[in-house]
Amino acid sequence: MAAPTETWLVLGGGSTIGRAFAQRAAAAGAAVLVAGRDVAELERSAADLRLRHGVPASAMLFDALDLASHRGFARACAALAQGQLNLLLAFGSMPSQAECDAEPGVARRMVETNVTGAASVLTALAPVLRVQGGGVVVALGSVAGERGRPRNHLYGATKAALAVFLQGYAARHARHGVRVLNILAGPVDTALTWPLPKLPFMASPDDFAAGAWRLARQRSGQAHLPGIWAPVMAAIRAVPDRVFNRLDL
Ligand SMILES: NC(=O)c1ccc[n+]([C@@H]2O[C@H](COP(=O)([O-])OP(=O)(O)OC[C@H]3O[C@@H](n4cnc5c(N)ncnc54)[C@H](OP(=O)(O)O)[C@@H]3O)[C@@H](O)[C@H]2O)c1
Repeated sequence: MAAPTETWLVLGGGSTIGRAFAQRAAAAGAAVLVAGRDVAELERSAADLRLRHGVPASAMLFDALDLASHRGFARACAALAQGQLNLLLAFGSMPSQAECDAEPGVARRMVETNVTGAASVLTALAPVLRVQGGGVVVALGSVAGERGRPRNHLYGATKAALAVFLQGYAARHARHGVRVLNILAGPVDTALTWPLPKLPFMASPDDFAAGAWRLARQRSGQAHLPGIWAPVMAAIRAVPDRVFNRLDL
């Protein structure tokens, strides 16, 4: 088989969406680096990708909260990448609002994971993208970041902060060929949403990953996935506060 022309680094390679995306990338002939905290499990995923698709795949230790490790991690990714290194930011934490209210440490950990950790690792990887002359960065944002809801407004705030960080990151690195896409995801049927009541327009991880892979090839800026969330969120954003504040959302 010809050497891959691109490598997808999946940050949060053990996440349900990250795993499904890695399968899409490998099926298209890309090399894959699956990065996360449970390296033994990621080794099994990498072996599965190699066997199933015949592409290079490796597991890497990555902890979003271990900020001091991010530069070394970025160098290791650059050394392993074949062809252009592209990134999928697929880690995240979503404790309930009640858990965050009850225990400030839980709230802090979510903010540090979803915002500080994401910003830190993307900053550490930016020089790698610039030196190679560009790359694609896809992040899993959320519709929760578009309007704060009583039930998860701190989680929503982390995704809103991530969105603004990504806007500036895109503007800063565009001249070096870096293309950034923030996917404003609706609910996906994963471990993250299993504790919640049934949610509308819930996507399966495979369908979501197929859509994310398609968008990753074409789009930059922000895109809703599934697409139905674009008009739904436009309507939700338009609800006046006096009405919105009476809804139990
Ligand atoms: N599911 C949805 O409805 C939905 C909607 C919108 C956006 N998203 C976003 O999509 C992304 C993936 O979520 P998912 O639904 O696939 O959920 P998931 O299966 O629960 O995955 C979450 C992943 O984040 C990883 N993670 C948490 N803290 C980490 C840290 N400090 N360092 C490295 N990895 C860490 C977890 O790793 P461990 O296995 O080591 O704990 C886990 O693999 C998240 O950013 C989430 O916010 C999901």
